[in-house]
Amino acid sequence: MMSNFKKIKIIKPDDWHVHIRENKILKKVLPYTEMFYQRAIIMPNLKEPIIDCKKALSYRSKIIQSCKLNKKFQPLMICYLTKETSLKELKYGFLKKIFIGSKLYLNNSTTNANTGINKINDIFHILEFMQKIKMPLLIHGEENNPNIDIYDRESKFIDNILEPLRKKFPELKIILEHITTKESVSYIEENNSPYLAGTITPHHLMLNRNNMFFGGIHPNLYCLPILKRNTHQIALRKAISNGNKNFFLGSDSAPHFYKNKINSIGCAGIFNAPSSLLCYVSVFEEMNALKYFEDFCSKNGPNFYNLPINKEIITLVKKPFKVPSKITIGKNFIIPFLSNKVLQWSIL
Ligand code: NCD
Ligand code: ZN
Repeated sequence: MMSNFKKIKIIKPDDWHVHIRENKILKKVLPYTEMFYQRAIIMPNLKEPIIDCKKALSYRSKIIQSCKLNKKFQPLMICYLTKETSLKELKYGFLKKIFIGSKLYLNNSTTNANTGINKINDIFHILEFMQKIKMPLLIHGEENNPNIDIYDRESKFIDNILEPLRKKFPELKIILEHITTKESVSYIEENNSPYLAGTITPHHLMLNRNNMFFGGIHPNLYCLPILKRNTHQIALRKAISNGNKNFFLGSDSAPHFYKNKINSIGCAGIFNAPSSLLCYVSVFEEMNALKYFEDFCSKNGPNFYNLPINKEIITLVKKPFKVPSKITIGKNFIIPFLSNKVLQWSIL
């Protein structure tokens, strides 16, 4: 019976990077996030991005109204930076706890980033102000110059943009989102700073770019930053196994309809919400690092953001779980990460 299965109890985790979209998609994907996570940073890259408090409040209340499983689920909102972002708006939003941070997307660097920042200099006044009010900056860390090789855009971003930025604003709290390279891992480890952290996704821990082309092309594994060489995957797996407090959970679950993934120009994004936490626990187990699992999922994030640690507890059981084959939404559907595959862990 149940008691024969290995169990792990941990403080209920938070997802520090998730896309849940709007309307019908939101309603369908939110329960997965609520089930595994107590809080989640809801990414602001909607078709009409969340660029002010009014939009954030309206989006947040729609999310709260859509909660089904956990009435105490807390969506944490982020302001999408543009060069027009007003300092007054940021200050009000941050002090009133409408926003817990702001997000930097370089123009066209990913899904719905066509109103992102063109030149980082355009927002120096904003970054200076954020440093002053201690508002965290979340970064999609990829160069947007199409002449730079797609596999190098993250490491070039560190050299060309992030390092100069951190010299200029040394006390600006920065989260490098969904890191994918050994360069990002070393950059965070070597700086070892209370002002610099990174989130890591389950898919970048479990896969490398070979998986994207195994026996043919796998559009469902296309995401940004793109999956990298296995040496990078190994560096990410080592990073979480060392218990470094500057790495924490950010699933980057990013649902897109199948018809938009499997297309002549397919969208970037992997919908992993049904299995993200179960993937992470499998990786920590494979790495013999389960002792750091709870810190990564439930403590390093809130500590970095200066937020309280959750009180709720969840139990994971070593019992097979089959990932659903698809999630139907009206006439459309979304294929989840590891669709139809069996994972070794489930939630009680
Ligand atoms: C994300 C999305 O679809 O919104 N896509 C992705 O490939 N990760 C955006 C992002 O986080 O880059
Ligand atoms: Zn994302």
